[in-house]
Amino acid sequence: MDRNNIVTGFSKLDRSEKLRLLFADHMEKEKAIAEMESYRHHDQKVQKLHDEISENTLTNYYLPYSVAPNFLINGKNYILPLVTEESSVVAAVAKSAKFWSTRGGFRTEISEMIKNGQVHFIWNGSHDKIIDAFPDLKKRLIQDTSEITASMVNRGGGIVNIELVDKRDHIEGYYQLSADFDTRDSMGANFINSCLEQFAVALEDFIRHDDRFGSDEKNVEIIMSILSNYTDRCLVTASVSCSPEDLGDFVDGLPSWKFIWKFNQAVKIAGIDKYRATTHNKGIFNGIDAVMIATGNDFRAVEAAGHAWASRDGSYRGLSVAGEENGRLSLRLTLPLPVGTVGGLTGLHPMAKRSLEILGNPDASGLMGIIAAGGLAANFAAIRSLIVGGIQSGHMRMHLSNILNRLGADESERVSAAEYFRERKVGYASVKIFLAELRKKKAL
Ligand code: MEV
Repeated sequence: MDRNNIVTGFSKLDRSEKLRLLFADHMEKEKAIAEMESYRHHDQKVQKLHDEISENTLTNYYLPYSVAPNFLINGKNYILPLVTEESSVVAAVAKSAKFWSTRGGFRTEISEMIKNGQVHFIWNGSHDKIIDAFPDLKKRLIQDTSEITASMVNRGGGIVNIELVDKRDHIEGYYQLSADFDTRDSMGANFINSCLEQFAVALEDFIRHDDRFGSDEKNVEIIMSILSNYTDRCLVTASVSCSPEDLGDFVDGLPSWKFIWKFNQAVKIAGIDKYRATTHNKGIFNGIDAVMIATGNDFRAVEAAGHAWASRDGSYRGLSVAGEENGRLSLRLTLPLPVGTVGGLTGLHPMAKRSLEILGNPDASGLMGIIAAGGLAANFAAIRSLIVGGIQSGHMRMHLSNILNRLGADESERVSAAEYFRERKVGYASVKIFLAELRKKKAL
């Protein structure tokens, strides 16, 4: 097999064959393969579990697993597990959590936890007839999915509602079966998609056999059946608030009224300008994604939902808002957070299980609140840095540490570099020159 041509049967190759193909033209083939192999887990059982999470799995890709303590959320103390590659996120989130822990902490609220999915279909029969038949069709949809929904119903969840949505103004003959689901503590994607695919089968059969429809109305074209990631009925709000006097030295030398004024302006700017809003929201997802990944949840689903929610009135806006009550500093974040604490990767990945354990095994609504608090903490820390001294000083300290690691600096070189670069610009080239000079001097 030649990797430069279309590869067929790749998935059937064993791991070693896949690796050989992958590095066929590599200058240091054996070294590259050995490195890939070295990232596999020493315990074969653990490795097998990881191999089976995805396909064509060759090795593992490590990311740091960090924690941020002192998260006081609704009066309870948590240590948040965070998996992120962005060096300054953990420090920022931890600093924010510590600050709020002595100022009442984070308060969180869940509105409801309903998810939606749709069967999209084209049908050119009589609208009046399908409206008339819909109550019977609905019964049939619920009946035909009873096996799929049984255990969810036992847990208090299941199908909450099904509607027929007329979309013919947009596309000729286009309708949706739009269904709402309560998936309890699971994220519920598989459950929802299984129900929807069964709805599609039942819909086709119902129309084909129901006497109300004429022979020219029997054909339904199912386009697709899929959940919606726009979970605007699965919202969580996290908020913090403190008096100007309570800001302490967090204002970094600014008068507290000015700190609050600048803070509010910064949040307002994200509320009206999409260029700033995108970065503002990215900062929120720095905290959210890190906990999502640590707990084995689908961060792409939450990102997609969050950004769609951020543009719910037609303009993309920052997800958090600052309050202005009695001169206090307050920040509130509301967003959709469809997460699960059972099923999926949460019960499969050993580290996801540990993360949930570290959080005290919350249910899905508890986890929504915890993750929203993580997002709010990241947002608060980012705005604070931006309005006092800028984010580069913090980022550069971490950046310097990463560069020193790459250049193999020892402890004494790290101390000298930290001192030297305290007031200087950090860059790969400048750190490399500094180290070379230092090593030259040492060698003399
Ligand atoms: C960097 O990852 C995130 C920030 O840019 C967020 C923000 O600007 O609010 C600092």
